[in-house]
Amino acid sequence: MSSGVPILTLNNGVKIPAIGLGGWGGLSAEERAAAKGWFLTGLQAGYRHIDVAQMYGTEESLGKAIRESGIPREEIFVTTKLPWNHHSRVAQSFQESLNNLGLDYVDLYLVHWPQRVVLEEGNDFPKHPDGSIKTVESPSFNEVWADVEKLLDTGKVRAIGVSNFSVKTLETLLATAKVVPAVNQVELHPYLAQPDLVEYCKKKGILITAYTPTGYQNVLTDPTITELAGKYGVSPAQIVLAWHVARGGSACPKSSNVERQKQNINLPTLDASDVARVTALDKGQRLCNKPDENGRVWGVSVEELGW
Ligand SMILES: NC(=O)c1ccc[n+]([C@@H]2O[C@H](COP(=O)([O-])OP(=O)(O)OC[C@H]3O[C@@H](n4cnc5c(N)ncnc54)[C@H](OP(=O)(O)O)[C@@H]3O)[C@@H](O)[C@H]2O)c1
Repeated sequence: MSSGVPILTLNNGVKIPAIGLGGWGGLSAEERAAAKGWFLTGLQAGYRHIDVAQMYGTEESLGKAIRESGIPREEIFVTTKLPWNHHSRVAQSFQESLNNLGLDYVDLYLVHWPQRVVLEEGNDFPKHPDGSIKTVESPSFNEVWADVEKLLDTGKVRAIGVSNFSVKTLETLLATAKVVPAVNQVELHPYLAQPDLVEYCKKKGILITAYTPTGYQNVLTDPTITELAGKYGVSPAQIVLAWHVARGGSACPKSSNVERQKQNINLPTLDASDVARVTALDKGQRLCNKPDENGRVWGVSVEELGW
């Protein structure tokens, strides 16, 4: 019954395990340091793809867990991301990530967000007096991408991609890109199935990695999901993750609990009719990065994001 974790191939031939362990570890230094423990149980449970970001503050913990695991570096697929306020210091920021991780290279480096936020030392969320996030127009994300493309020449990154891009922002990016992003990491779950973006990325050879892939308790308690969990004799999260895999995508569920970590990489193969039933739950509902009451997400409008 179990399909395990398929290995997918990116548009440059690099292989990526379909399920990665999400690496957002909380806001406090203590929580971020504690991530080392659950990264290690994840690696021991069989994860070979881990998703972090410089903004999560968990790169150091991941590096420590990798070294402590004794697993050869080349067996682990490591993703990290360029912070939204490091648009004018891409090469330096990338090197800082390598230093934090204590690694010579990363497998995948993503532009975390299309918007560029003002760089204020020690403050990832600089705000105008009205509470909105301060962003800049220049450089454009096309210019940021050109700097990320140059990282490929260093041999210290195997693939590059983006995150939180839409059909609209990908179209703008591809107008000047020399390298088509290998991955677009976006919020994706049964309540936000994003059929147009999935279709577009497939056509362009861009793999989608789903974040918030479980859809939290909103999706996990949905009657269709719990019914299917009963049918297959697995948990609701396993049904939802199996759905991502059945669609040919990748996903990075986060769990700091070893039993749930194990569940999330031991997935049933869903019948095509059940995949369709889960897809039909789509209601275009964002659960993680929701627009505020002014229709803005982290300083920019949903129109600008193309969401
Ligand atoms: N690119 C971006 O902008 C972006 C944004 C958000 C997230 N991400 C990435 O995506 C990862 C996951 O996102 P997320 O945390 O929002 O969503 P998620 O992984 O879908 O949800 C995490 C929550 O689900 C619980 N959970 C995990 N497995 C479960 C299971 N089998 N049964 C029941 N509950 C389960 C976890 O609790 P326990 O830990 O207690 O198991 C945790 O509370 C992040 O860690 C990060 O790497 C990227």
